[in-house]
Amino acid sequence: MINPGLLTIVLAAGKGTRMKSALPKVLHQIAGLSMLGHVLKLAANADNARLAVVIGPDMDNVRAEALKRAPLVGVHLQHSQLGTGNAVLAAREAIAAHTGDVIVLYGDTPLLTPSTIARLRAALDGGANVAVLGFHAINPSGYGRLLTSGGQLTAIREEKEATDSEREITFCNSGVLAFRCPDLLAILGAIKNTNAKGEFYLTDAVEIARTQGLKAAAVSCPEEEVLGINSRDQLASAEAIFQHRARQHAMAEGATLIAPGTVFFSHDTRLGRDVTIEPNVFFGPGVNVEDNVVIHANCHIVETRIRAGARVGPFARLRPGADIGADVHIGNFVEVKNMTLEAGAKANHFAYLGDGRVGAGANIGAGTIFCNYDGYNKHRTEIGAGAFIGSNSSLVAPLKIGEGAYVGSGSVITKDVPAGALALERNEQRVVEGWAAKFRTMMARKKAKAAE
Ligand code: UD1
Ligand code: MG
Repeated sequence: MINPGLLTIVLAAGKGTRMKSALPKVLHQIAGLSMLGHVLKLAANADNARLAVVIGPDMDNVRAEALKRAPLVGVHLQHSQLGTGNAVLAAREAIAAHTGDVIVLYGDTPLLTPSTIARLRAALDGGANVAVLGFHAINPSGYGRLLTSGGQLTAIREEKEATDSEREITFCNSGVLAFRCPDLLAILGAIKNTNAKGEFYLTDAVEIARTQGLKAAAVSCPEEEVLGINSRDQLASAEAIFQHRARQHAMAEGATLIAPGTVFFSHDTRLGRDVTIEPNVFFGPGVNVEDNVVIHANCHIVETRIRAGARVGPFARLRPGADIGADVHIGNFVEVKNMTLEAGAKANHFAYLGDGRVGAGANIGAGTIFCNYDGYNKHRTEIGAGAFIGSNSSLVAPLKIGEGAYVGSGSVITKDVPAGALALERNEQRVVEGWAAKFRTMMARKKAKAAE
């Protein structure tokens, strides 16, 4: 039989009022990616995955983010928030059109791992029709409790309906459920809202399935993986867990982090082998670091490629579109944006390099500024291979400096410079012999006279 694959339904209709934000909860970010993006990334990893997201009214920004992160996702609208059971039914069309397994994830639970999802699916392969992901809670209050008997899951009891002895149970529902049911829509349709909250509880699906002779199983995972985010405080906790994982992963893959707790990765940071990262480095999205790169302390790096053997920092800022070539040196207080620096080029001290190209082996002196913006448009600066830009020069774009050319220190260069030429733009130096001694004598006399 052809594996009909998996349909993943992500519930994201909750507004998340405790975030106190204009932004829907699932758009808040962890490591530079929305929580919804994290969940969709996880879901898209599964084989033959089909994706559906359930959003609430007035959530065009959630729809846009879903389509950005997973272009083939089906977006379904839950008109009013009548409970998790009702939310899954908002994706009725997707369920009806699907014959394989169905898994339900929450958009505000971004730390799940692929291996846990795989274990949940293995429970279906092992004969369960419904598999629920549970965890042993340090403080179970507020969660649905998993009721088990003889190794089988018999029901999920929401806290409001639980008896005192059921509330003693610490094995809790994470919210993640997987189904292999002949007629899932019929089970979902049988859920009623006659409970303390007047909601359609998805969790009732377990008991309904069992009355139909179907089997339910619980799979457990660490509590940390199913942390649901309801507040900024929990968002920060999730960020900390993500960063810890990312640091461990970086080191396991051959990077040296001198002070791991001070390095902040993005969800998509890529590091080669034998990369060394000194303390206090922040990676925004879209950074790719190749082998043998050293990133010195206190750098901020976003949407940048750093090729093999390059050295960056301390205190460098690499902005979107920076392409740092092999063995390039970017030193302290250098800002680079939308620039290619070819192999072996150097900009070692205090500089702004924006919109252009620096050829192989060229040297950009201290205090060089690429004047790329005239208040209306950005213009490019092209520097040929082996050129030497003297310190404290202003290069007014658009501008081309030929291969091997020199620019004298302190110049304001507004016209192209041919290959091999010297461009110098400053007044000639005057030297007046003996002037200093005469000046001091005159000043000393003036001062003495004024004091009389
Ligand atoms: C739910 C579970 C509970 C579990 C807990 C884990 C039910 C009935 N209870 O409770 O067993 O221990 O999660 O965190 O499922 N949502 C919608 N539409 C709705 C209602 C909710 O899309 O009408 C979404 C929310 O955006 C959220 C998720 O479903 O992502 C869970 O809803 P929430 O109200 O937080 O459920 P809990 O009461 O936490
Ligand atoms: Mg919740």
